[in-house]
Amino acid sequence: MNTQTDRIIIFDTTLRDGEQSPGATLNAEEKLTIARALARLGVDIIEAGFPYASAGDFAAVQKIAETIGVENGPTICGLARAAKNDIKAAGEALKPAAKARIHTFIATSDIHLEYKLKKTRQEVLAIVPEMVAYAKTFVDDVEFSPEDAGRSDPEFLYAVLELAIAAGATTVNIPDTVGYTTPAEFGAIIRGIKENVPNIDQAIISVHGHNDLGLAVANFLEAIKNGAKQLECTINGIGERAGNAALEELVMALHVRRQYFNPFLGRPPESTEPLTNIDTRQIYKTSRLVSNLTGMMVQPNKAIVGANAFAHESGIHQDGVLKHKLTYEIMDAESIGLTNNLIVLGKLSGRNAFRTRLQELGFELSETELNKAFVRFKDVADKKKEISDWDLEAIVNDETQQAPELFRLELVQVSCGDNAKPTATVTLRNQEGEELTDAAIGTGPVDAIYKAINRVVNVPNELIEFSVKSVTAGIDAMGEVTIRLRHEGRIYAGHAANTDIIVASARAYVSALNRLFAALQQKEKSECDSFRRK
Ligand code: KIV
Ligand code: ZN
Repeated sequence: MNTQTDRIIIFDTTLRDGEQSPGATLNAEEKLTIARALARLGVDIIEAGFPYASAGDFAAVQKIAETIGVENGPTICGLARAAKNDIKAAGEALKPAAKARIHTFIATSDIHLEYKLKKTRQEVLAIVPEMVAYAKTFVDDVEFSPEDAGRSDPEFLYAVLELAIAAGATTVNIPDTVGYTTPAEFGAIIRGIKENVPNIDQAIISVHGHNDLGLAVANFLEAIKNGAKQLECTINGIGERAGNAALEELVMALHVRRQYFNPFLGRPPESTEPLTNIDTRQIYKTSRLVSNLTGMMVQPNKAIVGANAFAHESGIHQDGVLKHKLTYEIMDAESIGLTNNLIVLGKLSGRNAFRTRLQELGFELSETELNKAFVRFKDVADKKKEISDWDLEAIVNDETQQAPELFRLELVQVSCGDNAKPTATVTLRNQEGEELTDAAIGTGPVDAIYKAINRVVNVPNELIEFSVKSVTAGIDAMGEVTIRLRHEGRIYAGHAANTDIIVASARAYVSALNRLFAALQQKEKSECDSFRRK
């Protein structure tokens, strides 16, 4: 393995650490859709899941290994604790991948050793080489992480890393598990490792960090200056608690400031060679996909992908940008794939023009998906004069990213207004094809719809988030609704877009309920299977 790379390796953990965000649970199909988008984005490694954690995780990693882990595709990685069963499950799930990596980890901080693992340092020193060597029996590419490295005794950390590398780890990943370190401290940890681990030149140094103090990205950039070559990050920075370092922020920092970072990778400052393999024009689309599927909204002021990231509100700024873009803009919106192009398609446009534009936008749809999206396009084109790429993207996402339809919304009708009692009637069709209709009064039209839907589906749930945003400006803009609901402690997300936000609200709710029902069916199936095995 070449450990002397002069570019930064992007290791995406959206599907593993990102999926650990409260309520971000994705089903296997959705994970595959995201993995496809990550491959298009150009990430080097996809950490697809934690195969030993559940049968569902195992199957998802295996499917991604099979479908996305092709010869010239990304490396597919599976997480495993430093324990034989975990490592074996990862090895088996990853088998179909052309390039597979096992990522094994054990904590090294005294606080984790004493309270979580209840192990001594000596025991950890024995486990690490044994488990890395065991992982090597499945794959050549083994990554080792000393969990909570940021709070570990540096001398102990050096000893653990030396043993891991001697046993065959080709990447050593340094996690700031609790997001505690500051950039200068994190940089010093990486420098210390470079200077004190005798065999460090035989491995790539990677970094992994959480954003509890909002410092994850800054820490990584400092780590690069001190020898780190791999960054573990997630789309939109999703992940445990405050999340992980955000891929789009790291990539764009390295893109916009490459002259500053070039020398740390042994290049002349003026080199224009990209520092990562990422196709930055895929960033915005991937961000939207992850947000839609996880139901985790991107805050408007979020760097790079927030709705306001390229908006100029104050007159002084607008004036400056009109005179010369560079007065207030350090990067082009186009560089992350944000376009304002209006497609010259209207209600008379044909399927071929529609297909061509989708292809130009990077969508790969099956014939069935294309047909469904085309019907929706015609419907929207009837109501809306101009259709932007963003509308198109919302239509396609809405048609192709719905959960399995256990219930289908057939009709929604509301009556509301000043001095009126908001009343809704809904009709849903179940899997048996039966039409179920009910009505309810609510505090507002959406509340009335949700109450009516609940009377039909009859499963207790609590709506914990509801948000509407418009896809483009203008009175005829499509509205996108994202909701999250809770049932028995688990969170389910739903998303829908429509020119009528009342319809979008109803569809988003039904979509979340469909996810809930799919999870209940899955649970029931697993319970039956385990009962039969007994
Ligand atoms: O945050 C962490 O320490 C992790 C490890 C498993 C790398 O996610
Ligand atoms: Zn983590």
